[in-house]
Amino acid sequence: MTSRIEWVRQSCRMLNGIAAEFERSQPFAGITIGTGIHIEPKTVALLLTLKAGGANVVATGNLNSTQPSAVTYLREHGVTVIGGPTRDPVERDGHLAEVLANRPQVLLDNGGDLFVRYLDHPYAGLLGGTEETTSGRARLALLRDRIALPVLVINDSPIKQFAENRHSVGQAVIESFLRITNRATNGRRVTVFGYGACGKGVALNFRNNHALVSVVEIDPVLRLEALFDGFAVPDRDEALRNAQIVITVTGARDVVTAADLPLLADDVILANAGHFPAEIDVKGIRAAQDVVDAPAGDEGMATLGLADGRRIHILTEGHMVNLAGPRPIGNSVDSMDLGFSLQARCLEAVATGAVGPESCVVPVPRAIDEAVARTCVELARG
Ligand SMILES: NC(=O)c1ccc[n+]([C@@H]2O[C@H](COP(=O)([O-])OP(=O)(O)OC[C@H]3O[C@@H](n4cnc5c(N)ncnc54)[C@H](O)[C@@H]3O)[C@@H](O)[C@H]2O)c1
Repeated sequence: MTSRIEWVRQSCRMLNGIAAEFERSQPFAGITIGTGIHIEPKTVALLLTLKAGGANVVATGNLNSTQPSAVTYLREHGVTVIGGPTRDPVERDGHLAEVLANRPQVLLDNGGDLFVRYLDHPYAGLLGGTEETTSGRARLALLRDRIALPVLVINDSPIKQFAENRHSVGQAVIESFLRITNRATNGRRVTVFGYGACGKGVALNFRNNHALVSVVEIDPVLRLEALFDGFAVPDRDEALRNAQIVITVTGARDVVTAADLPLLADDVILANAGHFPAEIDVKGIRAAQDVVDAPAGDEGMATLGLADGRRIHILTEGHMVNLAGPRPIGNSVDSMDLGFSLQARCLEAVATGAVGPESCVVPVPRAIDEAVARTCVELARG
C-alpha cells in the first residue's frame, strides 16, 4: 500500500526532477539549512529535495500544523527534526532557538521567525535564505539594513500568487466544505468576503460547483471586477441576510462579528479561509447574549443555538477551513510542488552565491520564475 507521504512525494514531479539534478550538482554540500515551516507531507518532499542536494537539514514545525507521521518519516530519512506538534508559542520559541543553535548557513524562513531571532543572536557564516509568506516579508522588509544578506520572498512570485492563492485555495475550500458538511453546493447562496487572489478563486470554485455566489469587497475597483466577472455584489448587510454559506478570505479582523447575528439566516454556515482565525469573531459570537446554546465543535463543525430558534454553524472554529478540521489535506500537491520548486531554486541561488546582499527581501528572481514555469508546462504537456 502506498502511504500518503509516499503518494505526495511521487506526485511532486517538479521537486523530484530537481532532486535528481541536485544529487549530481550538490549545491548544498557542506551547508546546513535551518527551517521552521509547517511539517506535513508536501514539506517532506521539499526537505528531502534539499537533502538530496547535500544539505544537512535541521527543521522544526509551525504552531498547530505539525503532522507526527511526517516528523517520523523525515527522521527516518536523515532530517533532524526538533520537537513535535505544539500549540505553545513558548515551546516553539525554544525549538526555533535550537534550530539556530546549529548555526545554519541558509535559512528557509516562514513568517520571519528565524531571521528575527538570528538578528537577536547573530553568528558568523549565514549566507542568507528565503521567506515563504507575505506576513514574513512585511516583517523582514523593515530589517533590511540589519540583515544585509540575500533573502528571496517566495510569496511575491506571480507563480505562487496564481497557482496557490488564486487556484488552489478555492479548490481546497470546496474540498473542506464538502468533507466537513457533506452538503451540496448546488443552488446554495454563498457570499465570499474579499475579492483578492484567494477570494477570486473561492468565488469561482463555488460558482463552478453550481452555487449562487455573491461577493462583498471593500475596494470599489475590485468590487467592480467581481461584477464584471459575473458575481452579484450586494451591500454587506443584504449579502449576510441572504447567505446560506459565508466564507471570509480578507486578511482583516472582525469581518463577521456578533453584531451581525440579527442579520444571519437560520441554518447559515460560516467559514474562514484567511490566514488569521480572527476574520470571524467566533469568541465574540459564542459569548453573545442571543446565543443560548454554544457546544464545543465536533469533527470541524459547531452548531450554535439562538434565543429565537435560529441555528448558526461555524466550521473549524474560524481557523483556515482548508487546513484545519478532520483529516486536513490543505492546498493541492501540484500548487505546492510549484511553490516549493521556487523554494528549492531560490535556496540554491543563495547557497551558490548567485544572488548577493542587494537581493535582501526581494521577490523571486525572474529567471527562476521563468525556468520553473517552463518545466511545469513541459511536464503538463507530457
Ligand atoms: N487558506 C490558505 O491556504 C491561504 C493561502 C494563501 C493566503 N491565505 C490568506 O488569505 C487571505 C487573503 O489573501 P489574498 O492573497 O486574497 O489577499 P489580498 O490582499 O489579495 O485580498 C484580500 C481582499 O480582501 C478585501 N477586504 C479586506 N477587508 C475586507 C472586509 N472587511 N470586507 C470585504 N473585503 C475586505 C481587501 O480589499 C482585499 O481586496 C490572507 O489572510 C492570506 O494570508 C490563505
